[in-house]
Amino acid sequence: MTKSGQLWGGRFSEKPHETFAEFNDSFKFDRRLFAADVRASIAHANGLAAAGVLTASEVAEITAGLSALLDAASADAGYFDGSDAEDVHSFIEGKLIAAIGDAGRKVHTGRSRNDQVATAFRLWLREETDTISAFIRDLQSAIVELAGRYKDAVLPGYTHLQRAQPVMFAHWCLAYFEMLRRDRERLADTRKRINVMPLGSGALAGTGFAIERDAVAAELGFDGISANSLDAVSDRDFAVEFTSACSLIMVHLSRLAEDLILYCSTEFGFVTLSDAVSSGSSLMPQKKNPDALELLRGKAGRVFGHNISLLAMLKGLPLAYNKDMQEDKQAVFDTVDTVQISLRAATIVLENATVNEEKTLAAANNGYLNATELADYLVKKGVPFRTAHETVGRIVLFAIEQGKELDELTIEALREFLPEIDEDVFTALSIESTLAAKNTVGGTSPERVANALTAAKEYLKK
Ligand code: ARG
Repeated sequence: MTKSGQLWGGRFSEKPHETFAEFNDSFKFDRRLFAADVRASIAHANGLAAAGVLTASEVAEITAGLSALLDAASADAGYFDGSDAEDVHSFIEGKLIAAIGDAGRKVHTGRSRNDQVATAFRLWLREETDTISAFIRDLQSAIVELAGRYKDAVLPGYTHLQRAQPVMFAHWCLAYFEMLRRDRERLADTRKRINVMPLGSGALAGTGFAIERDAVAAELGFDGISANSLDAVSDRDFAVEFTSACSLIMVHLSRLAEDLILYCSTEFGFVTLSDAVSSGSSLMPQKKNPDALELLRGKAGRVFGHNISLLAMLKGLPLAYNKDMQEDKQAVFDTVDTVQISLRAATIVLENATVNEEKTLAAANNGYLNATELADYLVKKGVPFRTAHETVGRIVLFAIEQGKELDELTIEALREFLPEIDEDVFTALSIESTLAAKNTVGGTSPERVANALTAAKEYLKK
């Protein structure tokens, strides 16, 4: 008994060892390419008909038979169960032949699983890439909405996780918006190289039938066709690029997660997460843990792993196709699943987060976040910046000893350090002036941030 839809029995006198079959077969995971492979097979049949290889009635039988497979699969949740097919390609061909007989035995004319799998994989990935891009956009909308909800909130900005200078909370939000903007651009660029059709490359050398490859590509919505058959069947650069672009998405989500994990701790108390995205402890009744955020942080690693495993799989492979390349599927499938659920999870976390504006403001007013402002004030009075920096450092030390913030020191005490200091220093040191002063493009002045928020909303409308 041969396996269902087996594509290569003729030369063999022994059937595959069951352990080899288990090791070799990809149907348990590549069934995800079913619909893409059926669509590509229909386009291929049309290409064969246009080349005069199939008759009009054969192509009609094949396309109807293949469409019926799509319908059958969507009608039956258990459609794939119990099949011992080697891979999705043999599964489809087996089903087609069982349904329509001899015409089905012609569908593989002029193609190989090598150009077939690369085509179905690209077709499938192109659509998943578009879904990821839409999910990024949803997250960007949630970011803009959160920034708008707390548009006057002020946050301590950090470097080295030490309080540095105050920033608008919306400015912090929009930092993540920008990262995600680049992520979408990167995906759009990767998509250009995903959306190239290898079909017509055959096993490695091209096809001996006069198929109009451009017409087949147009039918499938590809932007173009591959230029070299050896390259086309062995190129998985697009999968590496894709997992790399996804790795950066996960870097960004993990940084957002880490900021929020800190901000929702009792020590910070800046942000409260909704119960709907938190979980409790089996032992400690008081606990409310930011599990959604920790998973965003933790899942980044597995996506990086898939990127590295693809690079390692490809390195040193001789041209053209090698079975090593079958390993590309699970790496990409899991990347798609992980990135999509991560983006959706991040979106609901932000949609349901609340900001404790009094706490963030109090924190921004405490810990000498206006020291740079004092130095800038002195520079504007004609003091060289290095002198100003040095003097303010000594003023901060003095203030720490007094247990006071800079604006709680008396004018007399301040003038002891430098006579250039006047009464107007207290206005300069206020959080409002500190923020308003950062008024260059990309800065955190309320005016700039409001403009940036408007621009972000415009971007989302496009
Ligand atoms: N399942 C295979 C893969 O994913 C399909 C291509 C098999 N080609 C072959 N010549 N064995 O790579």
